Amino acid sequence: MNSDEKTLVQVRNLSVTYHTRLGPVSAVNDISFDINRSEILGLVGESGCGKSTLGKALMRMIMPPGEISGGSILFNGKDVMQFDQKRLRDFRGRQISMIFQDPMTSLNPVQRVDEHVIEAIQVHEEKPDKEDVISRVKALIERLGIQERRLRDYPHQLSGGMRQRVMIGLGLVLNADLIIADEATTSLDVIVEAMLVDQLREIREEFGVALLMITHNIALVAEIADRIAVMYAGKIVELGDIKEIFDNPLHPYTRGLLRSVPSIRLDDREELFKMSGEPPNLTHPPSGCRFHPRCPEAMPICSRIGPGMDEVSPGRWVHCWLYQDHPQKDRSTIKVNA
Ligand SMILES: Nc1ncnc2c1ncn2[C@@H]1O[C@H](COP(=O)(O)OP(=O)(O)O)[C@@H](O)[C@H]1O
Ligand SMILES: [Mg+2]
Repeated sequence: MNSDEKTLVQVRNLSVTYHTRLGPVSAVNDISFDINRSEILGLVGESGCGKSTLGKALMRMIMPPGEISGGSILFNGKDVMQFDQKRLRDFRGRQISMIFQDPMTSLNPVQRVDEHVIEAIQVHEEKPDKEDVISRVKALIERLGIQERRLRDYPHQLSGGMRQRVMIGLGLVLNADLIIADEATTSLDVIVEAMLVDQLREIREEFGVALLMITHNIALVAEIADRIAVMYAGKIVELGDIKEIFDNPLHPYTRGLLRSVPSIRLDDREELFKMSGEPPNLTHPPSGCRFHPRCPEAMPICSRIGPGMDEVSPGRWVHCWLYQDHPQKDRSTIKVNA
């Protein structure tokens, strides 16, 4: 497979700014990454670091006072920034769909489940065959573990887990290439969450759909994702194979983040880590590397110049001066084993 066939989404230098009364909020800052076909990519980071903004930007769903202030998004090789309203409507749903924490906000309370699905198909397909639509919906609903009679229920009659599965179904019935799940399992109890996660994994196998799993639950990502992107203050700071990153986190933020998760600590005797300092205010982000005020390994250059995103080994990207050279970088200040 060459890289074009493998790559579903190509994001380059993407920035999103919210224009607030207190000034511009730089919620996504010059981010570049790819999403591969059929992969599960986990997107993790503290609350407020820009995960949801990035997910919505991929669908061009940023509403005022926000705007995509720079960069490009190619989806299946097509330039999403150039889509007109009609093309965008078709794109959302048929190629990409997003499920949120509370699907009640996306489902129409006075529409039955089957009406939602049929409507989704009608919006996106010209003159669908009614019999064909109904059989596809039935097969899909059964596949998702929802009884056929549930098709006649209204959203409020379903459990939270079932509502999420209906939302997944709405994406799958149109053969979407990418489903973005934004904290989609967060409000479910752990058993239902585990079931849904298993189903997401199976769905990926069966339908070949790619998943962008946005979550603050790193243990969940550890279980399901192929690759992980770690976000801090509007930047992706580390990106790569899940196992490589968990075995050997390179960015100081990733190291802190992994040490703060009880279930995946490598050594049980290790103290649970609490990252010092507060997440930055994105109206006035720190100069240079946005993590430098909290970084245990900060060097003089870090407060002055932001590092680039460098591929330090095949497929492994890190946004950190520890792994990059610069004429102004003074190596003598690197602390070992900090
Ligand atoms: N509609 C909005 N108006 C102004 N600021 C916003 C808006 N939505 C998000 N933000 C700001 O953008 C930043 C990123 O938010 P968000 O993408 O929701 O982060 P996350 O999903 O990681 O919690 C935060 O500083 C947040 O306050
Ligand atoms: Mg969010």
